[in-house]
Amino acid sequence: MITTRAIELSPEGLRRSAAMLRAAMPRAAHMDDDFLAWQYVANPVGPALGLEAFDGDRLVSHCVVQPLIARLRGREVRGVMSLNAATLPDYLGRGIYFGLAEELYATARASGYAFGVAVTNDKSTQGFVRRCGFSLVRPLEARIGLGPIPRARREGGVDFEKLWSDKALAWRLSPPHLRYRFERRDGSVRVLAPSGRAGIEVVLGEVPGANAPNVAAVAAPPRSWGSPLRLWLGLDQRIDWRRSLYRNLPLFARPSPLNLIFTEFGASTTLDPQRVRWSGLDFDDF
Ligand SMILES: CC(C)(COP(=O)(O)OP(=O)(O)OC[C@H]1O[C@@H](n2cnc3c(N)ncnc32)[C@H](O)[C@@H]1OP(=O)(O)O)[C@@H](O)C(=O)NCCC(=O)NCCS
Repeated sequence: MITTRAIELSPEGLRRSAAMLRAAMPRAAHMDDDFLAWQYVANPVGPALGLEAFDGDRLVSHCVVQPLIARLRGREVRGVMSLNAATLPDYLGRGIYFGLAEELYATARASGYAFGVAVTNDKSTQGFVRRCGFSLVRPLEARIGLGPIPRARREGGVDFEKLWSDKALAWRLSPPHLRYRFERRDGSVRVLAPSGRAGIEVVLGEVPGANAPNVAAVAAPPRSWGSPLRLWLGLDQRIDWRRSLYRNLPLFARPSPLNLIFTEFGASTTLDPQRVRWSGLDFDDF
């Protein structure tokens, strides 16, 4: 019989969740209890909320959301972001994960969170849409190319963007499993991560000048890797890519569609993708 329990954020609970995630997801070799303690416990906005499904004593499905603060149509609100969605292979397709997700999103809503957001793949997007009230905003742009990334210069209103306090940014920039590289330019700092593919570096985003001193205090590792090809993930209409050497990867050429999905609890409206700012820093792929 399948039973449900709240996730345990103790070292032992995190060790058990991490072992299950490594068994369920091909790209989860870096997920150990230290990594989950960083993602789930150390987040300055608050600890993760989650539910897990057990078959007897065996953990078979893991459903977690991470709190975040965003500006949503001019208001600063708290929401939750889904990450690390996983069910063990033997238990797939029985409604287990989205049963947990439905219950978890109802709890998040009842606890006063205003919205849910996630970047999902082919396996999970429809479940979030059908069972948890999400809408597809649009697949993120995945621009690959060479040379400088155009700066965000165009004007444009914004309905949704994640907000980073200095403390939250310091936490985000110091994951236990890798060290980001920082590039300073005109007082702002660009954050780069290894992509896992030889020759490609991921541009996670740019931190405004005012935050630059704090970023320097977090870490400034020497350049030990780097590459000419860069991948930029996100949505930002202020960037004019036309004269750059970057092209958006078509969906068929991507390992995942990187669907940005969103739900505002108690509202039926969705987001206009032209009025959303989202970057690689705002989610958990790198
Ligand atoms: C995404 C993932 C967590 C879903 O887990 P799951 O437990 O299989 O999810 P569910 O069974 O609740 O739903 C998946 C599908 O099963 C089917 N399903 C749902 N309820 C069912 C039921 N009661 N009986 C039979 N099938 C059911 C549906 O086809 C459902 O898809 P849809 O509702 O979107 O059409 C799982 O595929 C996984 O671990 N994937 C690998 C890691 C990954 O890609 N994570 C996502 C990162 S964004």
